[in-house]
Amino acid sequence: MSFGWTLQNKKALITGGTKGIGKATVAAFLQLGASVVFTARHAEEVTAAEAQWSSQYPELQVKGIVADVSLESNRLHVYDWIATHWQQLDVLVNNAGINIRKKTPEYTRQEYEQILAINMLAPFEWARLLYPLLKRSGKAAIVNVASVAGSNIDIGTGSPYAMSKAALIQQTRSLAVEWAKEGIRVNVVSPWYTNTPLAAPVLQNEARIAHILSRTPMGRIAQPEEIAAIIAFLAMDKSSYITGQNIIADGGLSISGL
Ligand SMILES: NC(=O)c1ccc[n+]([C@@H]2O[C@H](COP(=O)([O-])OP(=O)(O)OC[C@H]3O[C@@H](n4cnc5c(N)ncnc54)[C@H](OP(=O)(O)O)[C@@H]3O)[C@@H](O)[C@H]2O)c1
Repeated sequence: MSFGWTLQNKKALITGGTKGIGKATVAAFLQLGASVVFTARHAEEVTAAEAQWSSQYPELQVKGIVADVSLESNRLHVYDWIATHWQQLDVLVNNAGINIRKKTPEYTRQEYEQILAINMLAPFEWARLLYPLLKRSGKAAIVNVASVAGSNIDIGTGSPYAMSKAALIQQTRSLAVEWAKEGIRVNVVSPWYTNTPLAAPVLQNEARIAHILSRTPMGRIAQPEEIAAIIAFLAMDKSSYITGQNIIADGGLSISGL
């Protein structure tokens, strides 16, 4: 018996669905019975992922679309597919994100604008664009993926990434209040270091990972599936009274006093 812990009959868009947390989220959503559109920039990875998921879940609709979240024309292409095939959207997961790690004076304008465009402006633009389709769902959920880097502390990611994630957390609260009566819940997940390609440069640095683990009460980093599980819960009707919340998944880092 599922007790309603399901995403059956939900139609979801997951950005950045070919690697890391996004890939784990696509897997979790399909396992829970959702139909999924996912996006990423590398065409061959999108095609391969779509073929793999479609053969594993022949009863569900799985569609991969090559789209850069920071390009309006690409977002409109995804919107057109959803509007044509589904006419509504139940779940938007703004997962796609990037980082370029540098000291603040070393960033070019192009570099920090790219970080802000992908991590902060794209989730805002997706939400605005998809608003009519989310509203039509009647029970919609937006789940944003921010970071511990955006919540009160500096973790050495570089300032543009931290700025983008702090803004995304506040964007979540504003939209949650604005759209509460429209039947659209908006929440955000803030992971600590998670075992994905994005974090690989940090995780492969022995001194850095030793320091990270020494500061993490659980003594380990997260696996992408542990973050995907939170995203899935926030997407489900089971979390129907939760909106505007920032769920911090950090192995105890933020509540550790030492
Ligand atoms: N891993 C961590 O330690 C960690 C910690 C806190 C927060 N996060 C956040 O979690 C989210 C996922 O991170 P991750 O670690 O899973 O990253 P990842 O391993 O680098 O995967 C990112 C995914 O997003 C796609 N993507 C990147 N830029 C895109 C763009 N402009 N348009 C469309 N798709 C794009 C990538 O595919 P393409 O390259 O083909 O586009 C890939 O599928 C990000 O928002 C990140 O900031 C991660």
